Amino acid sequence: MKNTVVIGAQWGDEGKAKITDLLAEKADMIIRYQGGCNAGHTVVHNGETYKLHIVPSGILYDNKICFIANGTVILPEVFEQETKELKERGVDLSKLKISPLATITMPYHTEVDGWAEDTVKKGKIGSTRKGIGPTYTDKIARCALKVGDLFDEETLLEKIDIILPLKNKILKQVYGLKEYSKDEILELCKKYKAIFEPYICENWQDLLRENKKKNILFEGAQGVMLDVDFGTYPFVTSSNPISGGACTGSGYGPAMIDEVIGVSKAYVTRVGEGPFVTELNDEIGDKIREIGHEFGTTTGRPRRCGWFDAVIAKYAVLVGGLTSMALTKIDVFDDFDEIKICTAYKDTKNGKIYNNYPTDVFIHDRLEPIYETHKGWKQSLSDVKRYQDLPKEAKDYLKRLEEIFEIPISIISVGPDREQTILMKNF
Ligand code: IMP
Repeated sequence: MKNTVVIGAQWGDEGKAKITDLLAEKADMIIRYQGGCNAGHTVVHNGETYKLHIVPSGILYDNKICFIANGTVILPEVFEQETKELKERGVDLSKLKISPLATITMPYHTEVDGWAEDTVKKGKIGSTRKGIGPTYTDKIARCALKVGDLFDEETLLEKIDIILPLKNKILKQVYGLKEYSKDEILELCKKYKAIFEPYICENWQDLLRENKKKNILFEGAQGVMLDVDFGTYPFVTSSNPISGGACTGSGYGPAMIDEVIGVSKAYVTRVGEGPFVTELNDEIGDKIREIGHEFGTTTGRPRRCGWFDAVIAKYAVLVGGLTSMALTKIDVFDDFDEIKICTAYKDTKNGKIYNNYPTDVFIHDRLEPIYETHKGWKQSLSDVKRYQDLPKEAKDYLKRLEEIFEIPISIISVGPDREQTILMKNF
């Protein structure tokens, strides 16, 4: 296997976990490099369903190194619960490692996230309330605690002395939230140290060096349209889900990456607020949601559903640096007479046509999608194992998407199980 990055090409929830699980079999090391417990990766492995938030999905195989790298933010309580459940289900965690440079989400981060969700009316993000934005804010503002800080008492005390007065001032004066005493923070840090102790990887530099010549799978979270630089800003997450994030978030340089697989659903979903030009607030949207079981893994929220948007797909190919696309959930359309693809947007105010993704999202509510319509295949694809066995209408639909992407479709997923996958090349 070549060193491969798997990223979401839409707004997250594209079915990345199935693709990473599939590719993880051939990898020696799987790296989770950005995001945190906002992610909800559902994997069906050996017939069992696992819902992972921060642990890389490669953990379900024996003998793969799973590294939670520097670019992530970790909510200790969620990590504790997730590892506990995995252990109870007999999963071996001895190869799970955490970078000392990963950032810790503290209770005040989730409190501030919740405050923003409850208080802000105009421009509300609709976050997962897992403290992601406030944790990354502190990381960039240079006042966050890193996992490694927990393991050196002197450093920890020094950092808390610097951080806490500032945090308390902001918590009280800006948000009207509870202040924390030094003892409270120290007590929390003691607890977190115990949670992370079995997994902390002090020698991460050796780990990266030793695995340089091996097969590495970089497991992305969220998706290109939630990227803090390129997504529907400000309605985004606070990290870089584009493939470039795999480098800053892992410690490996760009020359280490051979392939970038973007994952797209055959339609589009989104949770949380923000623009979504092809959203369907009608019975077709409801039908997609129902057949596709489109409810958030992390929050349980019903996902907003819409037709495939080729404008954002082309954008994801570009800024995500994709070399191929994995198309998931195509079977959701088995019973549809017609399937639509949005190829451009029209500005209803001035008639302007957008073939490229317009980055000013504040004009998106006046954009309407321009669709082309494809004939449905009206039969079940769930058991199809080879491309040549797909019905003509499905092949035509896939060919048209490839033409738009200008990169090949390398994987087609026709159901949640591993076997329900059509591989278009050898990995
Ligand atoms: P945050 O990452 O919790 O700050 O949320 C910011 C936005 O990203 C919200 O619209 C969330 O619904 C969305 N989001 C965050 N993580 C995921 C994910 O794993 N899948 C889909 N949407 C996500």
